[in-house]
Amino acid sequence: MNKLDSNIFESENNAERLENLLSEFDNAELANRQRDRYNNTEDKNAILEDIAEIVAERKQIVNETFIPIESAENGLFAEHTKRQGQILKVVAESVKQAKEESLGFGNVAKVAKIKKYPKYCYKVITNPTDYKEENNVKIEMELLALSRNINKSKVKIPRPIYCLANRETHMYVMETMDAAPLVSLFLEENKKALEKFEIEKFFNELQKCLDELHAKGIHHRDIHLGNVMVDFKTGRPCLIDFGKSIKVDNDSENPYEKEIEKGDEKGIKTWLVDNIEIKKIKEIIKKESERTLC
Ligand SMILES: Nc1ncnc2c1ncn2[C@@H]1O[C@H](COP(=O)(O)OP(=O)(O)O)[C@@H](O)[C@H]1O
Ligand SMILES: [Mg+2]
Repeated sequence: MNKLDSNIFESENNAERLENLLSEFDNAELANRQRDRYNNTEDKNAILEDIAEIVAERKQIVNETFIPIESAENGLFAEHTKRQGQILKVVAESVKQAKEESLGFGNVAKVAKIKKYPKYCYKVITNPTDYKEENNVKIEMELLALSRNINKSKVKIPRPIYCLANRETHMYVMETMDAAPLVSLFLEENKKALEKFEIEKFFNELQKCLDELHAKGIHHRDIHLGNVMVDFKTGRPCLIDFGKSIKVDNDSENPYEKEIEKGDEKGIKTWLVDNIEIKKIKEIIKKESERTLC
């Protein structure tokens, strides 16, 4: 076989191998991204090896991570095994590098799900500096769990599953909200959520939920358009992101202010006040819905 023939032969094989590998992806967008990488690189063989590795990793994740999560249904948090811990680390890297399907990001974290298992999602810390100033993932999960127990309103709060916290990776797994954050409620892709959305009812329910939490000493302290979501099916509120929340044990303590000392300097650290912020976001949504309907 001359050189030209062998090249043709090899590129046909490669194309077939690429398509076989891409068919393993459960997410068309991810498969397309890999196809682009392949088409835009000189070293096709290296890219094929890389894609094969990604496929193998994803298979491992699916086979080994999710069964224990399903079986955690009855427990509060399932302890992950060492092996699952290793897999969660792989998932964390994959979320950080935006290889999984993104659900959104905030100031400290990226949140993503794996399409084949949409019930669960991963919140992976990407901004350790700001994260260190507030709750760690374990405390955040505990506050989620506590709030879910207290909350008798119609507001959904994600069920925490388990977390991984070591020197390199802080993340936790939780129930996915099938919902759109208020910040993107008026986007075309979220019009499903708008169909059932009733502004007065929505904010009354959210207020009721916060009242219940406050009565038990829990304050969210980060109410904004990114942390309140609208359920696609019911149009009802979902409250997420307890990364700045607190539980105070006595009424005299102000949960929204704390004296701090940094070196020689003294100051007061403050947080967003739930009952003020809920009014602000309601006004924003009201204005936006009037504008959109015009
Ligand atoms: N359980 C969830 N289900 C669906 N989307 C979520 C969930 N948790 C977070 N998100 C999405 O990810 C974004 C960032 O998550 P968040 O917990 O607010 O991170 P941060 O602490 O960095 O603000 C949210 O604004 C929301 O769009
Ligand atoms: Mg947030």
